[in-house]
Amino acid sequence: MTRRSIGIIVNGVTGRMGYRQHLVRSLLAIRDAGGVRLPDGTTLWPHLVLVGRSEAKLREIADRHGLTDWTTDLTSALARDDVEIYFDAQVTQQREKAIRQAIEAGKHIYTEKPLAEDTAAALDLARAANAAGIRTGVVQDKLFLPGLRKLKRLLDGGFFGQVLSVRGDFGYWVFEGDWQPAQRPSWNYRASDGGGIVVDMFPHWHYVLAELFGEVRSVSATVATHIPQRVDERGRPYAATADDAAYAVFELAGGVIAQLNSSWCVRVHRDELVEFQVDGTHGSAVAGLRRCRVQHRAVTPKPVWNPDLPATEDFRSQWTEVPDNEEFDNGFKVQWEAFLRHIAVDEPFPWDFLAGARGVQLAELGLVSAREGRRVEIPELSL
Ligand SMILES: NC(=O)c1ccc[n+]([C@@H]2O[C@H](COP(=O)([O-])OP(=O)(O)OC[C@H]3O[C@@H](n4cnc5c(N)ncnc54)[C@H](O)[C@@H]3O)[C@@H](O)[C@H]2O)c1
Repeated sequence: MTRRSIGIIVNGVTGRMGYRQHLVRSLLAIRDAGGVRLPDGTTLWPHLVLVGRSEAKLREIADRHGLTDWTTDLTSALARDDVEIYFDAQVTQQREKAIRQAIEAGKHIYTEKPLAEDTAAALDLARAANAAGIRTGVVQDKLFLPGLRKLKRLLDGGFFGQVLSVRGDFGYWVFEGDWQPAQRPSWNYRASDGGGIVVDMFPHWHYVLAELFGEVRSVSATVATHIPQRVDERGRPYAATADDAAYAVFELAGGVIAQLNSSWCVRVHRDELVEFQVDGTHGSAVAGLRRCRVQHRAVTPKPVWNPDLPATEDFRSQWTEVPDNEEFDNGFKVQWEAFLRHIAVDEPFPWDFLAGARGVQLAELGLVSAREGRRVEIPELSL
């Protein structure tokens, strides 16, 4: 069997996402499985060049995983002929500069979201990559979650009739960092460092809504910084200047209304950290990260409002579990494999920089809506 090596720079590999989801759960998992199988029987073998700021941390990660190729010098890594792909999981603020360098170097580019800090920059990157004939991709991992794959299956099978609305709840309590360490990095809570839940989550909401229910046509958002002071990784108090909760309504092409709460200041009384309820004329579904449950119109009970009596029905038990019917792999890994096939054999890959720019645009206009207290229409973006 022929094995073709494909050189990939992994920048930001010491971070939460770069290490866990991209290096360990995706790229190393792909190597453990023998590479990515191509239609002609060849396997693609990711050769990893780890890039970061700290020599000590890179060496430690490389040693831990038996890797030998790492550097703190991005420019020299980009100059290598045996590297085809640049991947970026750095903090958002460092991304645009590095991606511009990678475009100059003529590398194909895959990146974490958000693509850039504002729409103009994201669109400019998309145009520059397009002009340079470079292939691009942006992480849209939520599409590959088992719960959302099952939801897509229901939509494709016509289960809902006409979809009316989507109600989503995302979030959990992120500790303030004083008496228990916070479970997210402190830059997430500083506007000046590219933090904020809108910038973090609206790019996800964009592709989830657009791919499943219809392109987003407008946004009305209210945002808050509920916890104004937090304590950072070194135990120092700091002012939390970025939004830590967003309450938004999105109108979609085709008339579906989506209402999504995103918050790092809620305690979870749900089955999963994100859940979407979809209500349609013929049926409803509640999808989480892994599970998806449905209720069809033919078996919908008829509750009658009477606050004088205790609830007699166990509403949750009236829903049916959607079966897996297939094996679900890690979503980040599945998307990496698709991107690698896109580079190697031209397999279609719709989640490019333009798609990423639309996610950035939704975050930007969500913040405009919140600041100006009004509903904001989303103009179409094109190259
Ligand atoms: N797809 C998802 O579900 C998802 C989830 C969380 C975060 N993200 C995205 O991934 C990216 C990284 O987020 P994270 O949570 O892994 O962050 P993190 O703070 O854990 O990691 C950041 C990485 O960037 C590097 N870095 C480079 N220059 C830096 C600088 N000047 N200051 C600080 N760090 C610098 C760090 O060394 C580290 O490797 C962000 O763009 C974020 O939006 C995506």
